[in-house]
Amino acid sequence: LFAGSCDFVFGAQKLGQLPPLTLPEIAFAGRSNVGKSSLVNALTGRKTLARASSEPGRTKQLNFFDLAGRLMLVDMPGYGYARAAKSVKEDWQDMMFDYLRGRPVLRRVVLLLDARVELKTHDREVMDLLDRAAVSFQVVLTKCDDVKPGPLARKQAEVEAVIAKHPAAFPYLTLTSSQTGLGMEALRAELAEFALP
Ligand code: GTP
Ligand code: MG
Repeated sequence: LFAGSCDFVFGAQKLGQLPPLTLPEIAFAGRSNVGKSSLVNALTGRKTLARASSEPGRTKQLNFFDLAGRLMLVDMPGYGYARAAKSVKEDWQDMMFDYLRGRPVLRRVVLLLDARVELKTHDREVMDLLDRAAVSFQVVLTKCDDVKPGPLARKQAEVEAVIAKHPAAFPYLTLTSSQTGLGMEALRAELAEFALP
């Protein structure tokens, strides 16, 4: 699946612009700069498919990537980007929340948390929203290459305790690094289960 073609098919800035419901969708959500676009690139083995940037607020629309005609990967804009204008932030957020709540083909949300950063109010709000919408999600810790083993183990335990309280969350975490490829095989195998035959 992941060795096949992967093409950018659509960028939606408004909910009215979402593409038709053709393929099962997997959405990548998380704070601005957490590494969503980098993860989409690492999973698909492409360096520049999704535009990644050290500048937070890089991804400004819902970007849809068609994986071998069998699965749609959706790179979302980040939430919690402090420097964006309030109106822009609210527009993004509304679109993101509406998409997460109301997309019938959405099969799984991959929620990214930076292994180096404290869990923020926004992260908890998104988990609550996914619980309420009964959208199953799995949490991925990003940038694990940049954390020493001790702090990483503590972070893992801390996040596992949080997700244990969320009915829509899978009870395990995936540790990843888009730079070293850590966790990519495991994640590919899990997501492949949602693909069309
Ligand atoms: P927005 O689109 O702004 O919401 O950001 P994003 O979540 O798509 O993050 P993006 O993939 O653009 O990456 C943000 C920054 O984190 C870039 O400078 C990346 O190089 C860096 N980054 C991403 N993944 C990793 C990783 O696994 N390890 C390390 N050390 N840095 C990473
Ligand atoms: Mg991005």
